[in-house]
Amino acid sequence: MIGRGEGRGKAFPKGRDKPRNHQFVGGDFRMRMLLAGNWKMNGLKTALAEIRALKRGLVDETARADVLVCPPATLIMEAAKAAEGSPIAIGGQDCHALASGAYTGDVSAEMLRDAGATAVILGHSERRQYHGETNPIVAGKMKAARRAGLMAILCVGESDKEREAGHAIRVVAQQLEASIPPELGASDLTIAYEPIWAIGTGKTPTTADIGEMHAAIRAMLGKRFSAGGETIRVLYGGSVKPDNAAEILAVPNVDGALVGGASLKAADFLAIIRAAPRR
Ligand code: PGA
Repeated sequence: MIGRGEGRGKAFPKGRDKPRNHQFVGGDFRMRMLLAGNWKMNGLKTALAEIRALKRGLVDETARADVLVCPPATLIMEAAKAAEGSPIAIGGQDCHALASGAYTGDVSAEMLRDAGATAVILGHSERRQYHGETNPIVAGKMKAARRAGLMAILCVGESDKEREAGHAIRVVAQQLEASIPPELGASDLTIAYEPIWAIGTGKTPTTADIGEMHAAIRAMLGKRFSAGGETIRVLYGGSVKPDNAAEILAVPNVDGALVGGASLKAADFLAIIRAAPRR
């Protein structure tokens, strides 16, 4: 479920007592997968046709996984309308730490929420790289997401140099530690592990490397949130495509994917969603 709790988003309108992404399967505590599309700075109004196509394609897929599309801010309101009556939730790609004020060009978490978003991607490496977002800045935005009732999808990941130097896990641990403010609870949070060198490059880590990192993230979340750490979805992102999705989504502790380029076309995104194991 995206945007949990009282007064949160209606993207998944059938209320349940338990968070919807938690399923007990044969005694295992496992989460329903989340497939999230990050459109980045792509999409004019014509791209809303992709949301409609996704909606048609998902008619029989509702039980499989949760689906989120994060279009540019200009399309959120129309995207939310186009997604109405479907299992597709809509999210933002960034937000300001404050609710309103003299910050020309910025968009607040409350504005995203008001436009129909129930989630927001925060700390994406492109924001860190091109907009100088540090961990403390990201932490401020995480608080804003919580304040507005948005599920925060926190992106973490190492550069190629950091991986080659053997520091990948340490870098991710630091990002997690410094980007998650104390106010945040496990139910407010999704993590996306996105190695920077895999984003938009067609390169992906080996499944062993993904598994190692996701297990490390799971352990870190356990330390931070105790049992709650088990309930936080940890997505993989970076060059997820229809032809590698099944392999990546089968890795232990991978609870879904954050998909950039391949989420722009409904047919590709649907193929990725269909590759998700049913939980
Ligand atoms: P990609 O982007 O799937 O195009 O590599 C992923 C992301 O940046 O979220």
